[in-house]
Amino acid sequence: MKDQISLMIDTSGVGLHKRGYRQNAAEAPIKETLAAAMVDLSRVHSDANFIDPCCGSGTILIEAAMYAMNIAPGMQRRFSAEHWKNIDSKLWQEERDRARSMVLRDAAFEAHGFDIDKAAVDLALDNAKKAGVIGHVHVESRDLHDFQSLGDFGCVICNPPYGERLLDLNQAEELYRTMGKVFVPKHGWSYGIISPDETFEECFGRKADRRRKLYNGMIKCQYYQYFRVPKEEPFSKP
Ligand SMILES: C[S@@+](CC[C@H](N)C(=O)[O-])C[C@H]1O[C@@H](n2cnc3c(N)ncnc32)[C@H](O)[C@@H]1O
Repeated sequence: MKDQISLMIDTSGVGLHKRGYRQNAAEAPIKETLAAAMVDLSRVHSDANFIDPCCGSGTILIEAAMYAMNIAPGMQRRFSAEHWKNIDSKLWQEERDRARSMVLRDAAFEAHGFDIDKAAVDLALDNAKKAGVIGHVHVESRDLHDFQSLGDFGCVICNPPYGERLLDLNQAEELYRTMGKVFVPKHGWSYGIISPDETFEECFGRKADRRRKLYNGMIKCQYYQYFRVPKEEPFSKP
């Protein structure tokens, strides 16, 4: 560019979002790196309950478990630079051993995934097994209408249908209205939903406490976060 040449060397090979655990995906899967970003923004804790009520192939559940258990995201994949002669292969082994020694195997973290599609349940369980987090991930078939939070504190993250590849827009917005009813504001619980629908907050019935612009591939989305519990109205004097 303008008579300048940039020489770049690819050290990774296959895209970094490919962690190695998701050989099979449900329809409209989210990229592993985007799921990890939402987990990071929601400050998932290693001793908390975690729920994805529309879990599909389980990407968000698995990324949350890996984050909570301090599992390095590249642990199960290979990098192009591993074939370079100028890097001693012992170094790669030492780093992998070091990453393994940092895993919080006894973390009290429990992730619960639900999906209306039974095939997605099997897929999510299979992927969790491949990712090595199956001991902390539970998945069942359940409709979002029957959502219930579990325990005193935790976090919900959800990548619902957008009315493009899955459901039509009216059905997707109906699901957002259901979320507004079942995601009840509760001390200790937070909710994060990613959607490109600009009327999401209207459908959900509450303004988000925080919004972040995120791209799901080419689709411009907002990550709507709800964590405040409205104050109870004080008694008014007669
Ligand atoms: C965009 S996909 C989620 C993809 C997932 N994040 C992944 O990485 O594979 C939305 C999911 O919502 C599920 N779904 C649709 N309607 C639902 C409902 N009423 N209750 C529960 N799940 C529902 C679909 O079956 C689908 O798996």
